[in-house]
Amino acid sequence: MTPPPNTRPLIIAIDGPSASGKGTLAKRLADHFGLPHLDTGLLYRAVGWLAERTGKAPAEIAASLQSSDIDNPELKTDDAGQAGSKVAAIPEVRANLLKFQKDFAYRRSGAVLDGRDIGTVICPDAPVKLFVTATLESRAERRYRELRERGADTIKTRVLAEMAERDRRDSERAAAPLKAAPDAYLLDTSDMDADAAFAAALAFMARKGFRTAGR
Ligand code: C5P
Repeated sequence: MTPPPNTRPLIIAIDGPSASGKGTLAKRLADHFGLPHLDTGLLYRAVGWLAERTGKAPAEIAASLQSSDIDNPELKTDDAGQAGSKVAAIPEVRANLLKFQKDFAYRRSGAVLDGRDIGTVICPDAPVKLFVTATLESRAERRYRELRERGADTIKTRVLAEMAERDRRDSERAAAPLKAAPDAYLLDTSDMDADAAFAAALAFMARKGFRTAGR
């Protein structure tokens, strides 16, 4: 039976490990439903990146982070990802980034956020939660290809080792570890391309009554 249209503000919370395809999926869903999108990993990357360059305390940087700080192409590098993952384990950093994320999410239009703790901590009441994952090998393969396409000189075993290290740090930390919310829809993209992942997410959302762009 087709469910009735859902009229709650549409917050789409997307979590998962790096290179799972969550960022691409988040952007496509945001476009489709006409919603603003926040890649929350950029916040942690920016804090880590600025901490390494300024010597300031990460928590202090997090407390005064501006939207313009995340508009920096250097944050896309794997070094920035590792720096972000290290400061993300500091509870004060997480606490100081909470308001920025909640303000973004709880606007009248709704929003799409992707990260590690969106469905569990930032938006525990989001009507749509997706946990996007894939095997370590397929994520490392994706990241390796991406880096090669960007002209980076790297080897596959190094990409895999760094990804395993980041997975471990993100999953084992005490503060908001990476884990699926109990009510999240699990999407394993190991054998899916971006189109298939998008189609699977749309089908899930249609079952929840979120069917059309702009609803
Ligand atoms: O997703 P991305 O790789 O850009 O995230 C960089 C790092 O930021 C992650 O490895 C993770 O430690 C941290 N992060 C987090 N919570 C989020 C988003 C990212 O702890 N919501």
